[in-house]
Amino acid sequence: MNATTVFCPAKLNLFLAITERRADGFHNLVSVVVTLDWGDTLTVRPTAGGAEKLALTCDDPAVPVDGSNLVLKAARAFAAATGWTGAVDFALTKRIPMGAGLGGGSSDGAGALRALNELAGRPLTAEALRTLAAGLGSDCPLFLDGGPLVMRGRGERLESWAALAPRFAGRRVLVFKPSFGVATPWAYARLAAGAPASYLPPAEAEARLAAWVESGAPLEALLFNNMEPPVFAKYPALPVLAAQLQADFGLAVRMSGSGSACYALLADDAPVDAITAAIRRAWGGSAVVVAARLQTGNS
Ligand code: C5P
Repeated sequence: MNATTVFCPAKLNLFLAITERRADGFHNLVSVVVTLDWGDTLTVRPTAGGAEKLALTCDDPAVPVDGSNLVLKAARAFAAATGWTGAVDFALTKRIPMGAGLGGGSSDGAGALRALNELAGRPLTAEALRTLAAGLGSDCPLFLDGGPLVMRGRGERLESWAALAPRFAGRRVLVFKPSFGVATPWAYARLAAGAPASYLPPAEAEARLAAWVESGAPLEALLFNNMEPPVFAKYPALPVLAAQLQADFGLAVRMSGSGSACYALLADDAPVDAITAAIRRAWGGSAVVVAARLQTGNS
């Protein structure tokens, strides 16, 4: 059988309000998420099987390819849910850095679920796929649907904002990440330590979204992330560069998810080379800097 390749896009949280801690230790959030036209690619090749029915290789040696990788976790979950007994090799081309808040691992896991469901003749409905994805990670389900969308609950309750897609479609964005990453559980724990002031109450988060929708204001007016204060306090390299890019280029820099990746929406005539040079001067040559576009609909 032929190999299939799926695109596993990065995501940005354009609006991220962590609203409260739940009894199960997770947090409720309200987040507007959109995928980018930049990301990883995952190739799935059916094999005759052998000692290992599921195998994963990756072009980036820093990426774990053992059972902890969400691609293999997704494949196991898919097999358990459907009774699928096939054997496949996964080959992952990794571009989205880890610990970035760009959803790379989650997107790869969702890509594996999409590819296997196709390969197996679609045994799972879209709803069943979403449930499986939610079990893999809070950010996984969003990658099944494409954006823009609103995530609520732990991240598993999705509301499509397809009707608002024209306000997002094709906008240019510069994404940049320093060499260090941020561990998501640490960021949530820091936020919880500053409670309740660190949270944005759910009603306020909803009111902000509704106001933006009503106003017809540009995307710039939506951007928000209340995970920035604890992460910026620990990693001053982020707010220092954000202030510099604001001063030198008029850019409004935000962080995606729990960081450490930051981003800025770009005007079509923005001096990308000069901005990139400024980021590399501040963060060094190992910083990841990518110009991309917001993607609407499913890839
Ligand atoms: O679901 P995921 O594996 O991405 O979550 C990683 C960690 O981030 C969780 O163990 C939890 O500490 C925190 N988290 C949270 N609330 C969410 C998502 C993640 O507290 N909605």
